[in-house]
Amino acid sequence: MQVTDGAFDAPYHAPVLVAEVLQHLGHAHSVLDGTLGGGGHSAALIAAGATVTALDRDPQAIAAARARLADAERDGRFAALRANFAEVDALPALAGRTFDGILLDLGVSSHQLDDAQRGFTFREGAPLDMRMGDDAVMTAAEWLETS
Ligand SMILES: C[S@@+](CC[C@H](N)C(=O)[O-])C[C@H]1O[C@@H](n2cnc3c(N)ncnc32)[C@H](O)[C@@H]1O
Repeated sequence: MQVTDGAFDAPYHAPVLVAEVLQHLGHAHSVLDGTLGGGGHSAALIAAGATVTALDRDPQAIAAARARLADAERDGRFAALRANFAEVDALPALAGRTFDGILLDLGVSSHQLDDAQRGFTFREGAPLDMRMGDDAVMTAAEWLETS
């Protein structure tokens, strides 16, 4: 599948590896996207014909991607779980499932950087928070004070 630059960008996040993801996983039938973010890579894989099961720790990412991919979710071609990819083996929803490919786009999303309250940026005197999700037990500031 040919893609034009920016075809899968969203206000939440602009994915930068769409061509590479499609090069390696574009023929897969089922993919586990361990870092859903704004759903750009998942959207590209679904457009290429895959069924995608996706994880993200961040409830804001899950909500944004589910809204974007609502049609695919309704058709059974997309499902999102709020989870840490490091615990993938322990997720009951994935027990016994197999995938043709696994995608990890490690890092933070543009949304996490742009929202000063998330504390990933030094701009605007933001609090030092840096939690990917509210399952994290302490902020980065609390961790620095107690470690
Ligand atoms: C670079 S963004 C992914 C962008 C995504 N590929 C797209 O197309 O929009 C990285 C995402 O990984 C998530 N993340 C970081 N660590 C995680 C972890 N341990 N488990 C699950 N998700 C994680 C972040 O919350 C963020 O949404």
